[in-house]
Amino acid sequence: MLFVGCTSRDGKEEYSDFAPTVFPDRIMLTIPGDPATSRAVSWHTVYEDTVSIGEISLMDAAPILEENKVTVTGTFTPWENGSLASMGHKVIFENLKPDTKYAYRVGDDENWSEWFQFKTSSDKAEPFSFIYLGDVQNEVKSYGSRILRQAYSHFPDADFMLFTGDLVKVSNEEYWREFFYAGGWIFGMMPGVPTPGNHEYDEHVVQTRTFSKHWNQIFTLPPNGPSEKFNNRLYFIDYQGVRFVSVDSPAYGENSKDDKMIMDWLDRTLESNPNRWVVVFTHYPIYYCCQGRDKKSYQDAGKAIFEKYGVDIVLQGHDHTYCRGQNLPDAAANSKNHPMYIVSVAGEKMYGLNINFWSDRVASNTQLYQNISFSGDTLSYKSFTVSGDLYDEFMLIKDKTGINRFIESKEVREIKQRVEIPEGEEEEYTDEEMMKYRQKFQKMP
Ligand SMILES: [Fe+2]
Repeated sequence: MLFVGCTSRDGKEEYSDFAPTVFPDRIMLTIPGDPATSRAVSWHTVYEDTVSIGEISLMDAAPILEENKVTVTGTFTPWENGSLASMGHKVIFENLKPDTKYAYRVGDDENWSEWFQFKTSSDKAEPFSFIYLGDVQNEVKSYGSRILRQAYSHFPDADFMLFTGDLVKVSNEEYWREFFYAGGWIFGMMPGVPTPGNHEYDEHVVQTRTFSKHWNQIFTLPPNGPSEKFNNRLYFIDYQGVRFVSVDSPAYGENSKDDKMIMDWLDRTLESNPNRWVVVFTHYPIYYCCQGRDKKSYQDAGKAIFEKYGVDIVLQGHDHTYCRGQNLPDAAANSKNHPMYIVSVAGEKMYGLNINFWSDRVASNTQLYQNISFSGDTLSYKSFTVSGDLYDEFMLIKDKTGINRFIESKEVREIKQRVEIPEGEEEEYTDEEMMKYRQKFQKMP
């Protein structure tokens, strides 16, 4: 292993193996199209490495995977646009068999990764579960690592890891290397299914905002969005009876032409859903969960379409707090199946709770991960603290007409809610708001 001295953000010298070598690292498995028949893999090496090869084999418990491998040539581009520091590689495995275990490795035909294992999805509506994580974003090596590892260790059989944006605070080399350090080989085993957050954009130049230089290098997702510009950002995956729709909410509000394109696409994508269930995952919350937010034009547009098609559950991030609820008093009169809205946070950055009181369960100052499973007419939802303790749980039972019945777990009602305002966040509240906060949350069970 090559040890290289690195300077951390707080100026301390530390040692790590972050520097690129001829051996593949930062390996990310993704779903580039039909989840039953395709997988993509991206990886990272020294800049001089200009051969990109993937080998794939049907799973074999004997260590003879090389004997039945199929070789696929991939592509390479600089890991970071405009930089000669390292090379990014990508390969797509297609024509795989549904519901089948495979092993793969990537390399340059001389220097290889280890063999990784995965299973393709079924092409039918079969039970499965996935992990949902809110913003990882800050202190990714220090605190992001434990949530990624705990979530995977608790649910190693989950089919993928879904991220609702702000995977990193800044889309630069420093943050992405921490992200891959934190997730390590997990990302090569369990596909990443992400939607971008505002931190995947350069927020400092509002009029000419640029998108992450790394996102498209790392993630290869189905090209079924409204236009090529939004590839890997707005897309959907039909997974064993559930349509998952990634809505790049930070892209909304840039210009009216794009806004219309995004919402027209969302409308079409929900209208054409052939599955019984639909999940939307997106960064900005429809209802605020923390103090001091303003995304009203997106919230109004998104809410109207989610209600129109009765989206079952909307998974969100951005607010660095936890909220869960349907906010039924705000449901449109003609809304049949009002969505369940979740806001969650995975990483270290924490805010205080909003005093709008729309949600039925909240948390602040708490790193959380979620496991969501589907089985026939039942969606089962569980949220856990990073300590592995259950924090929230409910089920949605779908009837013959597509309407969901909500059942909250009795056990959860007994678990005390965590409502501590994180250090330094008191200043977000006026005196009156602080009084309301204390009256509401500190009397909660
Ligand atoms: Fe955000």
